[in-house]
Amino acid sequence: MKRFALKDYGTAKDVLIEIQAEARPVDETHVRVALLAFAINPYDVALRQGAMRDFRIVKFPYVLGNDGAGIVTEVGAAVTHVKVGDEVIVHAISGTYGEEIVAPGKKIVKKPAALSWEVAAGLVTPWLTTYNLVTHLLGDTIGQTVMVQGASGAVGSLLVQFLKKQGKTVLASASKRNESWVTRLGADQFAAYDQADAGKVFANQADTVIDATKGGVAGEAGVQIMKTGGNFVALNALPKEQTKTGNYLAFGPSKEYSDFEALTALTEVADEIQLKIAEVLPFTLASVIYGHEKLEGHPSAGKIIIKKEQ
Ligand SMILES: NC(=O)c1ccc[n+]([C@@H]2O[C@H](COP(=O)([O-])OP(=O)(O)OC[C@H]3O[C@@H](n4cnc5c(N)ncnc54)[C@H](OP(=O)(O)O)[C@@H]3O)[C@@H](O)[C@H]2O)c1
Repeated sequence: MKRFALKDYGTAKDVLIEIQAEARPVDETHVRVALLAFAINPYDVALRQGAMRDFRIVKFPYVLGNDGAGIVTEVGAAVTHVKVGDEVIVHAISGTYGEEIVAPGKKIVKKPAALSWEVAAGLVTPWLTTYNLVTHLLGDTIGQTVMVQGASGAVGSLLVQFLKKQGKTVLASASKRNESWVTRLGADQFAAYDQADAGKVFANQADTVIDATKGGVAGEAGVQIMKTGGNFVALNALPKEQTKTGNYLAFGPSKEYSDFEALTALTEVADEIQLKIAEVLPFTLASVIYGHEKLEGHPSAGKIIIKKEQ
């Protein structure tokens, strides 16, 4: 079985390799999925570069990838919600960069027909982040007006849509080139961070500010935008200068969040949700390397997906 792995930390060209892996057995709680699409996330790039080496131990060769979609080929005896032949969405701890994944049944849901393979794979981590952050981390404390920084990104664009579905007033920032995309998603007001200081444009207006920028680069403006006593949520590091009183929260995956609950919620909104796909690339090592190199820069918007021919 073909998989794409890291042989070490380093540049994409130096450390990404193709390996032949043995199929893992399926125990009673697991499901085997023949993957047809997987997503490349900013997290994968950071992991490959060694940015997490102090707190995330990996054993090489290490198969990257949390997000995938494919067809069920084997089901453990205790799993009842999917069967062989079902089209599914998968969230794995690692290993979706390949032809097959064996994952716990509770991390797999049926793929709604409304979602293409590429969109299904691309939605997984951005949706889990959006859903858990809004529903579980913030819940009723979120307030009426929410600022989304990085609103053109995968997570940011889903946040805008999810918050609008909940009747929130959404303020948004991203680059000028992505303004029309973000306003089409329903943002009430938009500031282009490359043309104006979003911190000044929306100063003291948001009950909650979510910094969903790549690398968490909008902290200072975000603190300006948060009302005193509001919430500031970072997907990356919290701002060093917390110059205003508020509830500063770092969002991260947690065992307390149920993937099954969040993925089931995704299936319920699948025909309304929009995700920009930048590129769909063939199932080759060259594609994986290209995708990693592209994400190291500042691509315009949209997910990079690797897709296998059916
Ligand atoms: N903590 C967690 O559990 C978790 C989960 C998912 C993601 N993340 C992290 O969250 C971040 C966003 O993920 P994503 O998948 O949504 O990434 P993405 O699709 O690449 O989106 C990145 C966003 O950042 C904006 N941005 C980039 N450079 C910027 C700058 N200099 N100033 C202001 N905005 C800038 C982009 O806006 P323009 O392109 O319009 O400039 C875009 O909206 C990544 O760092 C990712 O690793 C964390």
